[in-house]
Amino acid sequence: MATKISFLNIKGGVGKTSLIVNVGACLAYMGKRVLIVDFDAQSNASIWLMRLDRWNGLNHHPEKFILSVFQQNEHSIADCIQKDVIKDSDDEAALPGLDLIPASFNLMDLEHEVANEMGIPFYAHFFEQLQSIEDGYDFILFDCPPNFFYSPQCAIFSSNWILVPANPDALSIIGFHLLVEKLHKFKAESSTYAESLSSPNPDILGISLNSVKPGTRIDVPVERLQAQLERFIEQGRISAKASIFPEQIRHSVAVGRAVMQGMPMVLLGKSQGSMNVAEDFIKTAQRILSLTTQANEPQLSPDTPVNETH
Ligand SMILES: Nc1ncnc2c1ncn2[C@@H]1O[C@H](COP(=O)(O)OP(=O)(O)O)[C@@H](O)[C@H]1O
Ligand SMILES: [Mg+2]
Repeated sequence: MATKISFLNIKGGVGKTSLIVNVGACLAYMGKRVLIVDFDAQSNASIWLMRLDRWNGLNHHPEKFILSVFQQNEHSIADCIQKDVIKDSDDEAALPGLDLIPASFNLMDLEHEVANEMGIPFYAHFFEQLQSIEDGYDFILFDCPPNFFYSPQCAIFSSNWILVPANPDALSIIGFHLLVEKLHKFKAESSTYAESLSSPNPDILGISLNSVKPGTRIDVPVERLQAQLERFIEQGRISAKASIFPEQIRHSVAVGRAVMQGMPMVLLGKSQGSMNVAEDFIKTAQRILSLTTQANEPQLSPDTPVNETH
């Protein structure tokens, strides 16, 4: 079964898209089968991975975008998949194993204009649709907009985990507080469907600090964020396993440049002399891999027989 993770923060510009593209690429590089689903109408992840010309060309085929899954003539989610999405200059797969379901700007219509005639909320419909393709993947990663409208609801409802990309500043602490509140509220509102469909009821996996300028002191905001995290854990509002990842993504102009090149850092690192930030993404991907693998392993219970080794 695929591990499904929403990359979510109520703040924009904190590095959600940069993290999802780069971590997704690292996981594929490690041999995992990865699908990124772009749930942000800004389509940044889609344009990055497909490059502007290919993404522009696809705009003549609205049935290839995520919005079509919710429209009346309901297209199959499988038809939206861009297999091995990153291509090299010969149009060959540059990173086999990394697929994308792209967004277009029209995804914003989901919030107002697309009539829901399915009889169930969009998030429940998406959850059912996703089941038809998820066995083909080890990881399904959802890029979310900085809000709690319909499209991120679809991502959250289908996810096992929420990963919070954040910047080490005071605003991130307020943003994290709000995110936990909104997550709680959405879980309560969707609980009937969560029960009837046995959806995963996601917990917070952790906070990944992004765009950290080398040499800048960030201990004060990080301590405050840690204190906030611990308060939520004590209150039982988030999993005791949630943590601020010890690995941080450093600030590097190479990340912005990678968008222009339509490449993730793991494929660019060596050639661009920016191996450092590429390694940050690799370490973060390894952290995600180990945390989610541990969580999938059966836990020992007091009744489980333990082999005596002495
Ligand atoms: N580690 C980094 N170093 C430098 N710039 C970064 C880094 N991560 C993201 N950025 C830049 O910050 C901006 C916002 O990042 P983005 O990933 O689009 O955030 P979000 O998806 O949360 O809105 C982009 O211009 C991006 O290139
Ligand atoms: Mg984004």
